[in-house]
Amino acid sequence: MTTTLIKGGTVVSATGRSAADVLIDGETIVALLAPGQAEAIGIAPVRTIDATGKNVVPGGVDVHTHMELPFGGTAASDTFETGTTAAAWGGVTTIVDFAVQRTGERVQDGLAEWHAKADGNCAIDYGFHMIIGGVDDDALKAMTYLVDNEGITSFKLFMAYPGVFYSDDGQILRAMQNAGESGAVMMMHAENGIAIDVLIAQALARGETDPKYHSITRPAELEGEATNRAIQLAKVAGNVPLYIVHMSASEALRELAEARHRGQNVFGETCPQYLYLSLEDHLAQPGFEGAKWVCSTPLRTKHEHHQDDLWKGLRMDELAVVSTDHCPFCMKEQKELGLGDFSKIPNGIGSVEHRMELLYQGVVDGKISLERWVETCCTTPARMFGLYPAKGVIAPGADADILIWDPNGHTSIGFEKKHHMNMDHSAWEGFEIDGKVDTVLSRGRVVVENDQFTGAKGHGKYIKRGLSQYLV
Ligand code: URP
Ligand code: ZN
Ligand code: ZN
Repeated sequence: MTTTLIKGGTVVSATGRSAADVLIDGETIVALLAPGQAEAIGIAPVRTIDATGKNVVPGGVDVHTHMELPFGGTAASDTFETGTTAAAWGGVTTIVDFAVQRTGERVQDGLAEWHAKADGNCAIDYGFHMIIGGVDDDALKAMTYLVDNEGITSFKLFMAYPGVFYSDDGQILRAMQNAGESGAVMMMHAENGIAIDVLIAQALARGETDPKYHSITRPAELEGEATNRAIQLAKVAGNVPLYIVHMSASEALRELAEARHRGQNVFGETCPQYLYLSLEDHLAQPGFEGAKWVCSTPLRTKHEHHQDDLWKGLRMDELAVVSTDHCPFCMKEQKELGLGDFSKIPNGIGSVEHRMELLYQGVVDGKISLERWVETCCTTPARMFGLYPAKGVIAPGADADILIWDPNGHTSIGFEKKHHMNMDHSAWEGFEIDGKVDTVLSRGRVVVENDQFTGAKGHGKYIKRGLSQYLV
């Protein structure tokens, strides 16, 4: 028996913390023991990891990543190998990436393409959601097939990007009705893309081409409007579970909170960029620098109250999950495609390595509790997307996916500092974190320790996910 004992640490869950030692057999957690109990009952582990003074938390679960996503004439710069390795560096042990069906393509072909990209290349475990870019009879049948056979139990639709991923309201309603029958969760990119395209054309005609216009042409009202429309459509479809991705605007959060208070089965996700970055301080930097922070939904103005509202939403459980929407592009030859025309800048920010770190700083700053950090970054994402109790919790029977976090350590994020994503810059340059990833285990294997990556590509396995545990 290959046993490992993580000794002397404080085990933190979504509901509390306690001094406990974690006993691992092979890939699985087998017991939580009172400090010293292992010796008392004669357990002699093959390996002991000293976690004295550290927090022992479930490995991070990032349910929104885009490795190798084709977008805007290029593709996201992290492969499944580089992206999952960077994730491990950041204490993340599971990702759920988005396989893509484009209009006119078969859903199954899109899924096969994603398996081919990921298979044998991942350093940590992974699952897939499916983007449905063309809702029609065949796609609807395929959605049911994926839920029943392929472990894909969530589907993303877009109210934005007309001509690329966009679904109209009729398509959205049909897909939601289908999800209601199969038990899937519908995920929504909620921005009014038709109106946004008008604003973009008008801005470009006025010669407004800098990156900051990306946000100005995607006003918060159009995120709020689309969020409300998605919520109403989900209600009409039979209170189908709806998960709004990458929420950035108070207007949208208000719609979500009202629907939740009415009892509707709707959940929200935000991302570190919306909690920390802004139109003025980042997107509007001089020259073309702001292109680093072009993502959708966009960064919002700091002169309203979006960030405060999002932090409050996290505390109040209006927002359930923090993911990254990791979609990295280099400046050179990628973001540069939008020089002179912000609408051609590929949308996305790379963050998969830094979510646990950035959100922990929220704990230090008193924005969320230590337990809420674990809940929003590990436990709820696992429960929301059918990964629990194998993932997202430290308990007997769970996979030994564990982050040992040093609250007395320090992390300096930056391209020449801590940065392992396949990018030529960091969107998080200069961020200082009062804490540090110490050791990371993925199914019992140590993948990060002593500031070294000790994992390997191919260790990560595809996970067929079950249904969401938040279905009612
Ligand atoms: O800017 C973003 N979010 N890029 C990735 C695609 C998406 O909409 O999630
Ligand atoms: Zn999106
Ligand atoms: Zn995304």
